[in-house]
Amino acid sequence: MNVLLLGSGGREHALAWKIAASPLLTKLYAAPGNPGIGGEAELVKLDITDHAAVVAFCREKKIDLVVVGPEGPLVAGIADDLRAENIRVFGPSKAAARLEGSKGFTKDLCARYNIPTAAYGRFGDLASAKAYVEKTGAPIVIKADGLAAGKGVTVAMTMDEARAALASCFDGSFGAAGAEVVVEEFMTGEEASFFCLCDGTTALPFGTAQDHKRVGDGDVGPNTGGMGAYSPAPVMTPDMIERTMREIIEPTMRGMAELGAPFAGILFAGLMITESGPKLIEYNTRFGDPECQVLVMRLRDDLLVLLNAATDGQLAHMSVRWRDEAALTVVMAARGYPGTPEKGSVIRGVEDAAGEGVQIFHAGTAINGGALVANGGRVLNVTASGATVGEAQARAYAALDRIDWPDGFCRRDIGWQAVAREQAG
Ligand code: AMP
Ligand code: GLY
Repeated sequence: MNVLLLGSGGREHALAWKIAASPLLTKLYAAPGNPGIGGEAELVKLDITDHAAVVAFCREKKIDLVVVGPEGPLVAGIADDLRAENIRVFGPSKAAARLEGSKGFTKDLCARYNIPTAAYGRFGDLASAKAYVEKTGAPIVIKADGLAAGKGVTVAMTMDEARAALASCFDGSFGAAGAEVVVEEFMTGEEASFFCLCDGTTALPFGTAQDHKRVGDGDVGPNTGGMGAYSPAPVMTPDMIERTMREIIEPTMRGMAELGAPFAGILFAGLMITESGPKLIEYNTRFGDPECQVLVMRLRDDLLVLLNAATDGQLAHMSVRWRDEAALTVVMAARGYPGTPEKGSVIRGVEDAAGEGVQIFHAGTAINGGALVANGGRVLNVTASGATVGEAQARAYAALDRIDWPDGFCRRDIGWQAVAREQAG
């Protein structure tokens, strides 16, 4: 098979690494990719927002499957534009990607199908949103409706924070994404990421993970795209997975089909495991980054076989096998992240740091004058497997400490909850 992978982050490097291991693969292309992905695939200079150019490339290179990494192209309808030209694509249609592209859409679906989630209101103007917030009180959660690169959510512990968040949504800080706002009840519990491979009808559980969203050790500081992750998530016991499938995922699949927008692709449920059970925080319609990196480390089966089955509506006949190991990834970020990262600093020693059970996935890297340099906020994902989360953690940090990059930083405590549990248990 000839495969085209779209995207350029650590998630896409992890997908490229696993797809490249498939005996089904003839040739892998990636657009635009990054230097790490370049080790697994031929990089193509394609503007992936230009769907006609992507279609033309697929025809020229006889692409058998397009795998879409990030949400942007999905919400923009790239899967529809490819399918209209009879090009097979792993990823949801524009209508199905509303599960990520519109928080209000997802909340309404939850309400209609009795899917457990935080109580909410949807508002198109500041005055009515404010009235709701004043009536409900803090803590309360304010969300821009549309895609806001992970920055559109404010968990407001005080009324002042809530008022400021509403004002910034409606004054255009998030562009069109903030023209509508969802205001939600504040939920408490332990968070987990839960993944399902979906083919429009069947949803197949596809692993669990926990990520670390805050920039600083001890889960403090501003939110990021994720500073590290590990899998599996201990809170997602077989019983909790069964409940999540029955109460959240299956009604979502049914609801989307009834709306004429069956969901095919990877469904990523952000969950809050509360005292009364699993509740949906949000959906993403693509793999998590960096959660994908730890999932592929643990996946025993051929990813390309599974992506094909999801694309062709054949998941009812499939199962997924995992290695009986934990995996953990630590994000190395450029100084300044999650604000404006410093670009261009030289990174040395990446090749020597990888080894048995350790993969270094590239995210925001580039080659400049023959040297590997930082070219984004999240730059490298040092990923390791081990018999326990603790062992994976020790291996990941040992590898990370062999990388010579004085201008980068990382959290030193990725996996701390799971390691504490292992030590207690
Ligand atoms: P999101 O971008 O929707 O994943 O939200 C970012 C983070 O905000 C989540 O990972 C949660 O930690 C937090 N969050 C979102 N919604 C709620 C909620 N209703 N209650 C408590 N925390 C929330
Ligand atoms: N790590 C969270 C995300 O990919 O949305």
